Amino acid sequence: MIADINRYLPFAEALRCALDGERPALSWLVPLLTCAEADAPALYRAAEAVRAAHVGDDVHLRGLIEISNYCRRDCAYCGVRRGHEGVVRYRLSPDEIVETAQHIQALGYRTVVMQSGEDMWFTAERMAEVIRRIKATTDLAVTLSLGERDAETYRQWREAGADRYLLRIETTDPALFAALHPDDDLEERKACLYTLRELGFQLGSGVMVGLPGQTPEILAGDVIWLHELGAEMLGVGPFIPHPATPLGDAAGGTVEATLRLVAVLRLVFPYAHLPATTAMGSLHPQGRERALQAGANVLMPNITPPRVRGHYALYPGKVFPGDDAVAARAQIIAHIDAIGRTVSDGHGHVRRVACQEEMKDAHTE
Ligand code: 5AD
Repeated sequence: MIADINRYLPFAEALRCALDGERPALSWLVPLLTCAEADAPALYRAAEAVRAAHVGDDVHLRGLIEISNYCRRDCAYCGVRRGHEGVVRYRLSPDEIVETAQHIQALGYRTVVMQSGEDMWFTAERMAEVIRRIKATTDLAVTLSLGERDAETYRQWREAGADRYLLRIETTDPALFAALHPDDDLEERKACLYTLRELGFQLGSGVMVGLPGQTPEILAGDVIWLHELGAEMLGVGPFIPHPATPLGDAAGGTVEATLRLVAVLRLVFPYAHLPATTAMGSLHPQGRERALQAGANVLMPNITPPRVRGHYALYPGKVFPGDDAVAARAQIIAHIDAIGRTVSDGHGHVRRVACQEEMKDAHTE
């Protein structure tokens, strides 16, 4: 891998490597991630062809509930970091979470995603009870995005019926990870992902694009690591500086750089589920549509109760669907229809990938 660094392929050859299903390497990932504006349409077209061939035209809709914005962490980029005292903190009650999930099912969604800061009020048992109640009263697939917890907690949540877990690695560069996460540890984050994988969760991870100090080589290294991990859902979005954080004056990521990454991820992970993320839609009015036309196949409409949802402000300018969730869903479906795509009527589980052999290879390299 190191030997590749000074041997980047021309764009057309790099795209050929991707389409041939070659093992991800810097030599072709970097040229794709940094391709010229004139080459980008070919990259997106290739990603779309792979998307259509492997996961079809269906877009999977996931109803997102942001259950709490309390967080024990102080991540440098995040608007709800512990040290940001201007945040109005809220926590939905278990009853309200279960009722919102039931509402999500009534609206026609097949998956509920529960996301929060690292809020230890949600003990292993409290959250397990919420999961059991949702599983007992709905037919929803349950996705959790609740940060780093111990293996026993993850085990209880899986046993309670949770199907999927999302935990972004954010960056795999040790120095950048450490600079961004003063109270966190890259190896612990990785260990959480390995545990989640072993427990049989459908596994989601991802990174932000445009972090200060992030290079194309770092981003390419992230793709290689995510591939070794065997992630089955890949969520990526532009970093959007929040003025009340230490990175408030940073430049932030762009829609264009993020679209290139979305397309590359589709090429490297033909069967994965790739959301067109809210951060994409927040940076550009057509950001999510463009992601869906560069390899993405998932949308996660925010169904957090309107009373609190303005407070889950990870970054400024975050877009929301309208308060009328029925009208919002109809509008989302109309947008999907307008770009010639269909709405999935299933749970949208991912196709599991075999990754153990690759992990072994990775460790011996
Ligand atoms: N800009 C863009 N994305 C952010 N996230 C957190 N803060 C920001 C920001 N300022 C992302 C992280 C996290 C996900 C829930 O939101 O990648 O994992």
